[in-house]
Amino acid sequence: MHLTLEEKAMLAGDFGPGIKKAVEIVVALGKIYGAQELVPVRSVQVAGVSYKNLGDAGLEFLREWAGQGVQARVPTTLNPAGMDLARWRELGISEEFARQQMAVIEAFEAMGIIPSCSCTPYLTGNLPAFGQHIAWSESSAVSFANSVLGARTNREGGPSALAAAITGRTARYGLHLDENRRATHVIEVRCPVASEADFGALGYLVGRQVKNGVPYFKGLRDREQGTLKALGAAMAASGAVALYHVEGVTPEARAGGVVAAEAEAVVVDSLDEGYTALNSPVDQIDLVSIGCPHASLVEIEEVARWLEGKRVRAKLWITTARETGERAQEKGLVERIEAAGGRVVADTCLVVAPIEELSLRSMATNSAKAAFYAPTHSGLEVRFGRLEQCLEAAVTGRWPG
Ligand code: F3S
Repeated sequence: MHLTLEEKAMLAGDFGPGIKKAVEIVVALGKIYGAQELVPVRSVQVAGVSYKNLGDAGLEFLREWAGQGVQARVPTTLNPAGMDLARWRELGISEEFARQQMAVIEAFEAMGIIPSCSCTPYLTGNLPAFGQHIAWSESSAVSFANSVLGARTNREGGPSALAAAITGRTARYGLHLDENRRATHVIEVRCPVASEADFGALGYLVGRQVKNGVPYFKGLRDREQGTLKALGAAMAASGAVALYHVEGVTPEARAGGVVAAEAEAVVVDSLDEGYTALNSPVDQIDLVSIGCPHASLVEIEEVARWLEGKRVRAKLWITTARETGERAQEKGLVERIEAAGGRVVADTCLVVAPIEELSLRSMATNSAKAAFYAPTHSGLEVRFGRLEQCLEAAVTGRWPG
């Protein structure tokens, strides 16, 4: 692998042991994947922030690295933590968990990382431009950045993203190269796909089928940001898909020539199988979760409008980035949602929060990704459907028949 003089000096330890460790990680990955060189990155998104997933060993690892005086060289944002950093008590999070979670955030902050705690960094200022190389490690954000924005990133792990932040570089392989960005599957969609949940069900089915591939969608009509975010998040969950194209919509599809000659044809003529796989037969709903990936202002507004004059019986969480939550507050949306008994929760989500501490058994969501992970990560029985069905369940406490 060709390394610059500066990179060689980093490897030799000239910049200290923390930077040496970081560049060793980046170079080791590059060697595994056959990279010829490293590439400077414009931004980093670090996952692995919740104490629920990190545990004491993860916290110690971060503290040790931070203690070596390393600093992020490029703008670096953080994935959701295990709790709302300001209102954790109101959510029922224990003192012990909160203390350890704050220690994790402090370690990241000591490394110059912005404690944004969101999986939608592109909605709150970390917005890469077309063609820029980045190193992100939140699967839904990776998918959005590659596909909708046309930036270039592999699915980094937490430590490799942190190493990229500290060195300002990643290894040039995988989706940083043109030849790996061509579609491996052409997906012809012959059924109506309208709601965010429909896009999630479609993503779940396609992800399962293409596994690590690059799908190219034909026949998709609704192209709002929210639906593309749901589509990508679901494919990332069920099939580790990091890049997709939508004919006439996403930037590389618009430029043309993006389908590989040997691409496989796939037809989707019904979403039923996706809905069936992501639903359990549970009737009583304890918690309704909206905002996976984190809700945009438009999505929060939709919830506030629907709840007008209603009162929820189940817990209702709309999870979002703190900055988006603050904008919702300024527009009076948080007040309207809280007047109905719901809650706008910042910095966290249902999958990374210690839900097992909250004595909940069932959840309804309009997110295929949340429905995919909640049974295994949070031990919940899940109902998955459209936003209106979920909000109806929040009001009645039961899944609408
Ligand atoms: Fe984001 Fe949590 Fe969903 S990190 S994509 S809200 S599982």
